[in-house]
Amino acid sequence: MRVATLLFAGSIASITEALVTRAVIDKCLTDAGVPVDIKGSDDWDRDVAPFNVRLPYLPTAISVPLTTKHIQDSVKCGKKLGIKVSAKSGGHSYASFGFGGENGHLVVELDRMYNVTYDAGKNIATVQPGARLGHVATVLYETYGRAISHGTCPGVGISGHFLHGGFGFSSHMHGLALDFVDSVTVVLADGRVVEASSTENSDLLWGIKGAGSNFGIVASWKLRTFEAPKVLTRFGVSLGWNKSTAVAGLEAVEKYAKNDQPREVNFRIGDYNKGQPGIEGLYYGTPEQWRKAFQPLLDTLPTGYNVSEPQTLNWIQAVISYSNYDNVDWTTPSPPENFYAKSLALKGLNGTAAQNFVDYYFDVANNVVDRFWFFQLDIHGGKTSQIAKVAVDATSYVHRDKLYLVQFYDRYENNETYPATSFGFLDGWVDTVTKPLPKSEWGSYANYADARLSRAVAEDQYYGKHLPKLQKLKAKYDPKQLFYYPQSVEPKA
Ligand SMILES: Cc1cc2nc3c(=O)[nH]c(=O)nc-3n(C[C@H](O)[C@H](O)[C@H](O)COP(=O)(O)OP(=O)(O)OC[C@H]3O[C@@H](n4cnc5c(N)ncnc54)[C@H](O)[C@@H]3O)c2cc1C
Ligand SMILES: *[C@@H]1O[C@H](CO)[C@@H](O)[C@H](O)[C@H]1NC(C)=O
Ligand SMILES: *[C@@H]1O[C@H](CO)[C@@H](O)[C@H](O)[C@H]1NC(C)=O
Ligand SMILES: *[C@@H]1O[C@H](CO)[C@@H](O)[C@H](O)[C@H]1NC(C)=O
Ligand SMILES: *[C@@H]1O[C@H](CO)[C@@H](O)[C@H](O)[C@H]1NC(C)=O
Ligand SMILES: *[C@@H]1O[C@H](CO)[C@@H](O)[C@H](O)[C@H]1NC(C)=O
Repeated sequence: MRVATLLFAGSIASITEALVTRAVIDKCLTDAGVPVDIKGSDDWDRDVAPFNVRLPYLPTAISVPLTTKHIQDSVKCGKKLGIKVSAKSGGHSYASFGFGGENGHLVVELDRMYNVTYDAGKNIATVQPGARLGHVATVLYETYGRAISHGTCPGVGISGHFLHGGFGFSSHMHGLALDFVDSVTVVLADGRVVEASSTENSDLLWGIKGAGSNFGIVASWKLRTFEAPKVLTRFGVSLGWNKSTAVAGLEAVEKYAKNDQPREVNFRIGDYNKGQPGIEGLYYGTPEQWRKAFQPLLDTLPTGYNVSEPQTLNWIQAVISYSNYDNVDWTTPSPPENFYAKSLALKGLNGTAAQNFVDYYFDVANNVVDRFWFFQLDIHGGKTSQIAKVAVDATSYVHRDKLYLVQFYDRYENNETYPATSFGFLDGWVDTVTKPLPKSEWGSYANYADARLSRAVAEDQYYGKHLPKLQKLKAKYDPKQLFYYPQSVEPKA
């Protein structure tokens, strides 16, 4: 009884404290002319809704900047009042890191800032920090006939995506989204607004291209583009693998990806249907050219596969086709999901690791029938991949030497609970694959944030050998961790 009373008194005190803090921070923001969401308003309710409903967090305040000055004043208020600050662009972090991954942050909601312009003379697009991928693709294509390679989800925000990688169906051909970054305008923890480019604050630009959520808030992007291709071929293969053929299938894919895959071939292996793996991809050229380029792989795959009729598409049709929507010009978030996800960046998947992957796939995963799950194995690196052509140390993105990027995703269709007993499903899959591998052979991808990794493990898996340099940069640009979240890089001088 006594304990219960004390707890009750404690929670009243902390609620009161939270209300006072909210009033103080809201006042600091409104005094500076920064728009804020009023708690309980429709805007608050929209902006506080996480993409991953498994991980809801309550911000102390939400500012909604329309200008760089508003972002700067938000950071200054957070600094002055000792409240941690988190930028939220598209809000699609798997771990709700746009909210800071915990209660009590000042969330800087950037998604009202989504303008895109293009300077043809310089070949530079200027993009505001809350633009979503589908909107960026639409404006660049419709107005200017230009394109950038990036992921497939139209609602994902440019900032989270470009700050940590950005892999999609044009990445083998053209590289990661972050490879298109020319320069950025950044609001730093001390409240200054600076440019980061190859000539100015180049260490900051290095950190931003791979670990960018750690050093400041990007307020504007300057991006290079390529001419939108007119003829692309979407292709697909239903693989028909079973437990006795899948390892040979993976080894055939690995040999092709390492040695024979032309740069123009972009593809992944995925299973969205419990035991029915397939290939989906995009070729830069005609269906006839694709057939020639892909035949060496088909010749070595286990028999029993079916090739679908390839489709010829232009650039924006390909973007739309792989989005699973009819229209990608989005300025609002995706419908939420209730899920847990993990990832692996791998130098290869053969021998015992491949056997373990396959055994778990057929013996364990295929028996998980009460919910939706998938895996995707992206062909990320390899001899001709544009990602691998950039030196590993040129940016803080550390996985350029990895052949594959694998995502594992497990979702419940209700929006209420993800049972704690279900985490073991994906944990077990990843553990069995990595068990035989030396640590130097694998890591994981910061854009598929795994909320259950400890800080030290996450830092190691996301950033690998670049971690010490990132820790120094953190000590330089955000020593007091204003931009803290549970997996943010720890400052070390
Ligand atoms: C449906 C879906 C499909 C996806 N498909 C792909 C894919 O094909 N390829 C791929 O590579 N990834 C993919 N992803 C992963 C995606 O790239 C990441 O979730 C990405 O980080 C989301 O960016 P965001 O801006 O929407 O997220 P947010 O939650 O807004 O931000 C993510 C992180 O970046 C920080 N941040 C946001 N804006 C800024 C800023 N301006 N300055 C500094 N830090 C900032 C946040 O604080 C947070 O830590 C997909 C995700 C989803 C949900
Ligand atoms: C976006 O551009 C339009 C048209 O120029 C302008 O009216 C609007 O204020 C801009 N929005 C922001 C957030 O800058
Ligand atoms: C390939 O097509 C045949 C004929 O339609 C079908 O029976 C078989 O199941 C298909 N196999 C795969 C792997 O899709
Ligand atoms: C697995 O697939 C191969 C190739 O299609 C087939 O020959 C074999 O019988 C299958 N094995 C099982 C156990 O279904
Ligand atoms: C097998 O996988 C490992 C990574 O675990 C990789 O380093 C090696 O190159 C692969 N071997 C072949 C033949 O692809
Ligand atoms: C979960 O939430 C989304 C978005 O609000 C909604 O579209 C969906 O129907 C919900 N699912 C269930 C089972 O309530």
